[in-house]
Amino acid sequence: MALSASSGSALPLDRIRLETPGVDHVLHFNNAGSALPPQAVLDTVVGHLQREATIGGYEAADEARERLDAVYDSLARLIGAKAEQLAVVENATRAWDMAVYGYPFQAGDRVLTVRAEYVSNVIALLQLRERFGIEVVLIEDDDDGQIDLAHLETELERGAAMVSMTHAPTNGGLINPAEQVGELCERYDTFYVLDACQSAGQVPLDVGRIKCDVLSGTGRKYLRGPRGTGFLYAGPRALERIEPPFLDLHAAEWTDADSYEIRSDAKRFENWETNYAGKLGLGAAVDYALDLGVDATSARLVALGARLRTELDAVAGVSVHDKGPDRGGIVTFAADGVPSDDLNAQLRAESINTSTSPASHARLDLPHRGLPTLVRASVHYYNTDDEIDRFVAAVKRLTSS
Ligand SMILES: Cc1ncc(COP(=O)(O)O)c(C=O)c1O
Repeated sequence: MALSASSGSALPLDRIRLETPGVDHVLHFNNAGSALPPQAVLDTVVGHLQREATIGGYEAADEARERLDAVYDSLARLIGAKAEQLAVVENATRAWDMAVYGYPFQAGDRVLTVRAEYVSNVIALLQLRERFGIEVVLIEDDDDGQIDLAHLETELERGAAMVSMTHAPTNGGLINPAEQVGELCERYDTFYVLDACQSAGQVPLDVGRIKCDVLSGTGRKYLRGPRGTGFLYAGPRALERIEPPFLDLHAAEWTDADSYEIRSDAKRFENWETNYAGKLGLGAAVDYALDLGVDATSARLVALGARLRTELDAVAGVSVHDKGPDRGGIVTFAADGVPSDDLNAQLRAESINTSTSPASHARLDLPHRGLPTLVRASVHYYNTDDEIDRFVAAVKRLTSS
C-alpha cells in the first residue's frame, strides 16, 4: 500500500499552495531553516515598506498603530497567553537571552537542561556559568530519546533554580514532552524556560497547559513569518523576577534626572527601534496559522514527516536519525559514502532545499550518538506527497554509486 500523508486532510491544500508563491520555484524541505511565507505575509511586509517610503517611517507606524497592537493579540491567541505577556523582538535567540541573561542568578544556582538544548542557549548557559558560578546540569534522554522525566524529577528534588528545555531541537524530529516537564516544574516550584523556536507553528502551544514561565519563538520557521522576527512570552513569575539585561526609553521610563522605572508588561524586553514591516508580517503569519488551525496543520506536517522517514529509511545506504516517541516535521538522515554537506549541495543544485545539522550545532546530542553531520529535510503542511516522492527519488539517485 502506498503511504499517503495527505489523505483525509481537511486543509484546503490547493488554495494554500496557490497562496505560497515559492512552491512554483523550489521543493522546499528547509522549513526548520526558514519556511516559504504565504502571499499575505509578503503583501503585508512590502505594503508597509511602501507606506514608509511614501509617507515616512514614523508616520507609517502611527497609521498602522492598531494593526501593530493586534500583533500581540494574535501571538497571545497562538499560545494561550495575554497580549501584555508578549514581546516582539528580532529572533528567538534574543527573546531567550533577554529572559535568561536577566534572571537573578546566584552563585551555585543549578540550571537543568537537556541534550536537545539549542546551541546558542548552551553557549549562553556556559557563559553564565563563568560569570555567575551557576551549575549547568544535563538531564539525560530516556530510552526513546526524549528528556528522561525520572532523571529530571531526581534533579528537581535536589533543588534547581531553572529548567531550560528546547521543545523541538534544530537537529531532529523529536518533540519533547513540554507539558509533563511543566507539571514537574510546578511540583518542585522551579522556573521553567521553554525554547519553542522550532515548535511554534509546528505543534499547538498553550502556555497554560505547558506551565512555562518563559517561552521563546521565531517568526520565519514553522510560523512562515518574515526573517528577523521573534517573540517572547513572559508569564507572571517572569515579569516579577526578570529585569531585562539592557533597558532603553521603550523598556523603561526616565522618570527624573537620576531615576527610571521599568515598564510593567513584557514589552520591557523589546527595544524602541524595530522592524515595523517585519512585525506586521509576523502578525499576518500568525493570523494565517490561526485561520488554518494549528491542530490541522500540525497533524498534516507530522504525517508528512512520518512518511518521509519511512520512505528514506527504505533507501539503500540511507539511515534516518530522529528520536523520541513524538516526532514532528524535521527529518534528519545520513547516506553511506556521501557526506551530508555534499548531498545538501547537490540537492540545492536541483532546487531542492534542505540544510545540514553538524555536530557544532548539537554537541550534547550528535557526538553522543556517534553521528556525523546529518542532512535535515524539514517538511511543512504545504508540502505534498508528490514532493516527498520527488525528494526520495533524488536522494536515491544521488546516493546510489
Ligand atoms: C531549537 C532552536 N532554538 C533557537 C533557535 C534560534 O532561533 P533564531 O535564529 O530565531 O534566533 C533555533 C534556530 O535554528 C532553533 O532551532
